[in-house]
Amino acid sequence: MFARAAARTLSQSRTFSSSAARQSKVAVLGAGGGIGQPLSLLLKLDPLVTSLNLYDIRGAPGVAADVSHVDTNSEVKGFAADKLDEALEGTEVIVVPAGVPRKPGMTRDDLFNTNASIVRDLAAAIGRVSPKACILVISNPVNSTVPIVAATLEKQGVFDEKRLFGVTTLDVVRAARFLGGIAGTDPKETVVTVVGGHSGATIVPLLSQIPSGKSVSGEAYEKLVHRIQFGGDEVVKAKDGAGSATLSMAYAGARFANSVLRGLNGEKNVITPTFVKSPLFADQGIDFFSSNVELGVNGVEKIYPIGSLSAEEEKLLAACLPDLKKNIEKGKAFVAQS
Ligand code: NAI
Repeated sequence: MFARAAARTLSQSRTFSSSAARQSKVAVLGAGGGIGQPLSLLLKLDPLVTSLNLYDIRGAPGVAADVSHVDTNSEVKGFAADKLDEALEGTEVIVVPAGVPRKPGMTRDDLFNTNASIVRDLAAAIGRVSPKACILVISNPVNSTVPIVAATLEKQGVFDEKRLFGVTTLDVVRAARFLGGIAGTDPKETVVTVVGGHSGATIVPLLSQIPSGKSVSGEAYEKLVHRIQFGGDEVVKAKDGAGSATLSMAYAGARFANSVLRGLNGEKNVITPTFVKSPLFADQGIDFFSSNVELGVNGVEKIYPIGSLSAEEEKLLAACLPDLKKNIEKGKAFVAQS
């Protein structure tokens, strides 16, 4: 029953939906980048966004001027490097794709040294200026950057675990697309719950929970799981040094932001996987985890358990947990030492 509800909610969210007029100021931090630009465009098209603040250390005013000409009602403003506080003022949702992307041969963890301090400093500004905003973290490694944001806000005494999200939607998007390609199902109707974290072996697709996923077995199953876990590498390789997924990520980021806004708007039954502070594996020292989460007026309304797993998925989960634990601890240690 839950899977059906999630399927309905997720498929509805393919196209932006709005139920009631409401003021929502959204900021994008890193708006001048490969993800930031198309993400800003897609947010301009979202009727739930009434005001859009675009910030980057480079190029945001230009992106804002460009996007602002699109004929939807929302106001768009661009903010230069020294205007971060102004960009954050009064925001309800803040999407963060700031930081460097991968080059061929790199893992997401290789980005840690550069992106950890970028994300920590942006989080500190959010905690100071807009502590009640929902924060949607795209910057990699998500498994570490989300704990970095949490620990930074905790230090400031303003952390609200219901309002911090790691964006793992691209894994869900890829799973639907790749499984659809094999099983012959419409990706729009193919809702795969992906749990765990957002890198390699920490990405755990629960294919057995839907009939089309259950029908894939043997070598085809192994290949499908590998493609979902490492699909990002296909893009990094094909872009040959020019970055990682930007367009599909912008789509995924805008879709997740729309889900958060629909929840804040009071819409019921908005359920999607996201990486949040979670009790599910906290007894094993893993206090952030992605599973299906119901979004609501306060952000996280309900964290769903992962449900029943096949024997293969039990193995995937067993491989995920130690890596995820290390990634989370690395993020926490970084803030503790800062
Ligand atoms: P990019 O290099 O094209 O853009 C990053 C932007 O961040 C640049 O415009 C840069 O000026 C800006 N920036 C750097 N420091 C900043 C700061 N302190 N404040 C504000 N802006 C700052 O990179 P791209 O491709 O847009 O990727 C961004 C991040 O998203 C990377 O860390 C990448 O690994 C991650 N990513 C996450 C995915 C996910 O599924 N969560 C999927 C794909 C990428």
